[in-house]
Amino acid sequence: MFKLYSGLIRISMPLLFTSCVAVTADTLDVDEALDYCGAQVHRTLAQLERDSMDYSMMPRNIAATDTVWHCRKSTCDEWCAGFWPGVLWYEYEATRDEKIKEQAEKFTASLEYLSRTPAFDHDLGFLMFCSYGNGYRLTGNPKFRDVILATADTLATLYNPHVGTILSWPRNVEMLGGHNTIMDNMINLEMLFWAAKNGGDRKLYDIAVKHAETTMRHHFRPDYSCYHVAVYDPETGAFIKGMTHQGYADDSMWARGQAWAIYGYTMVYRETRDPKFLDFACKVTDVYLNRLPEDYVPYWDFDDPTIPDAPRDASAASVVASALLELQGYCDSDKGRSYRDAAEKMLASLGSPSYRSGDKRPSFLDHSTGHHPAGSEIDASIIYADYYYIEALLRLRKLNNELDVLATL
Ligand code: GLY
Repeated sequence: MFKLYSGLIRISMPLLFTSCVAVTADTLDVDEALDYCGAQVHRTLAQLERDSMDYSMMPRNIAATDTVWHCRKSTCDEWCAGFWPGVLWYEYEATRDEKIKEQAEKFTASLEYLSRTPAFDHDLGFLMFCSYGNGYRLTGNPKFRDVILATADTLATLYNPHVGTILSWPRNVEMLGGHNTIMDNMINLEMLFWAAKNGGDRKLYDIAVKHAETTMRHHFRPDYSCYHVAVYDPETGAFIKGMTHQGYADDSMWARGQAWAIYGYTMVYRETRDPKFLDFACKVTDVYLNRLPEDYVPYWDFDDPTIPDAPRDASAASVVASALLELQGYCDSDKGRSYRDAAEKMLASLGSPSYRSGDKRPSFLDHSTGHHPAGSEIDASIIYADYYYIEALLRLRKLNNELDVLATL
C-alpha cells in the first residue's frame, strides 16, 4: 500500500506495476495526443482555480492513489517549479490560445526573483529555461531575455575552473566528499549556450563546452552508461569517484540519469557542431536503447534486481523520446530512421492506456519514478514527464509537417 507524507510518495510493500507490452509506432496519432494534453491542461487549471489560484504554487506530482496535483511553492530548492510554466508554453505553442499564454506568463513571473538571487544549485537551468526560455522563444519579450541572461550569469558562479564543471549541489560538498557534478546538470548547459548567443558573455559558451568535455571524460563507464554523481577534488580537479544518488547502485544504469545524458549530449552537439559530441550522444543512446523492455518505457533503473516487478519511469521515456527526435536529424539516414522509429514507439507506448493518466487524473502520464532510494514519487505522475512528453509531441508534429511540405514539392 502507498502511504502519503505531504507530497512524498512512500512505498511500503511491492506493487504490481504496468505490464510489458510490445508496441508499434502505427498507433501514434500526434494530433490526438496533443488534443489530449490540451484537455488535461484545462483540467489542471480547473483544479488550481478550485484551490483559489496561487501563481507561485506549481503542480509537482500525483500519487498513484490520488487524483489531484500536489503543488509546491516556486522556491529556489523546488527544482521542478519551471516545468508547469513550460507545459503551459508548449500548450500555447500547440494551440496559440491567448488564455493559455496569459496563464503561462503569470506562472512564469513567479520565478523571476531567481534571476536576482545567488545560485542555490545547478537547477536554475531547469527552473528558468523551461519557463522563461520557452516564453522568450514564443513571444520575443525582451524582459524575458534579460531574466535569462541574468540567470545564466548566476549559474556560471557555480563553475569551478580547476575541475572544469559546475558544482551541482553546493549543499552536498561535505556529504559527498568534494566538488560534485550530477548528470542532470548537462541539461542546464543549454541556458549558458543560449545566453552566449544572445548578448551574454562568450565565457558562458566556454564553460558549457568544458563542462560537457569533463563530464564525458569521467562520468561514464566503458559501456557508456553513466554514474549519477561524479565527485572531484575542488583544488586539483582530480576525479575522486563515481556514485549514485537516485539510482539503484553506484554502477547501475539509472534510467533518468542516462536520459539526461542522451538529451544533454544531443543538445551540446546542436550548440557546438563538434562531431565528438554527436558520436558520444549516439553511444550513450545505444546502450540505453539496447536494454529497453519491449514497450520502450524503461524500468526506473536498468539494473534493479526486482525487474520485471520494478516500477517504470515514464519520465525517462519522455526525455529520451524528445532527445531522439532531435538526434535523428543529425545522423545518417539509417541511424536517423532507427532513432526516429524508437522515439515514435516510445510516444505510442506513453500514449497507450498503460501510461496515460486519462480520466483518472489531470496529468498527461502515470508511472514515473522520482527518487526511488528515498521512497519518494514512486509510480507517480510527475510534472517533468509531462513537460518532455508534450515537447516530444511538438517536435514530432513539426517533423511530420516538414515531410508533408516535402511531399507537395
Ligand atoms: N534532477 C533530478 C532528477 O532527475 O530527478
